[in-house]
Amino acid sequence: MTDTIFVLNGPNLNLLGMREPDIYGSDTLDDIAGKLEDRARDLGLAIDLRQSNHEGHLIDWLHEAQGGGAKAVLLNAGAFTHSSIALYDAIRSIATPVIEVHLSNPLARDSFRHQSFVGRAARGTISGFGTLSYMLALEAAARL
Ligand code: DQA
Repeated sequence: MTDTIFVLNGPNLNLLGMREPDIYGSDTLDDIAGKLEDRARDLGLAIDLRQSNHEGHLIDWLHEAQGGGAKAVLLNAGAFTHSSIALYDAIRSIATPVIEVHLSNPLARDSFRHQSFVGRAARGTISGFGTLSYMLALEAAARL
């Protein structure tokens, strides 16, 4: 059976393409999904990409990743990255590897973005490369 990679996206990422394009680029989330799907096909993987503005959905989906046997999770938790101990606990609660992803480089931005509860629990982090951050994270996930 084809291994699936969950690509979970948090608040405001539904607005990608329109939202601060100088920071996040012009690709929409659908554009990113298409690029990931093309590359995943080459790698013999499937992508399940989701977005929610609600913290609890992200937590439920992390649990589902383990329950449903996803090979790995790429997680861009948006601003929840910097505030959510519940996401930290959820990532630590599952054995499925989670890779933290950001389009921008939070460490080069506002000081309130320097704290990452996701990064403290994740297997690793890729940030600062726009859409390419997702692509690089997929390469990493394929090799885990
Ligand atoms: C982001 C970075 C976060 O600080 C911000 O709140 C986002 C997007 C990124 O992909 O660069 O919503 O996760």
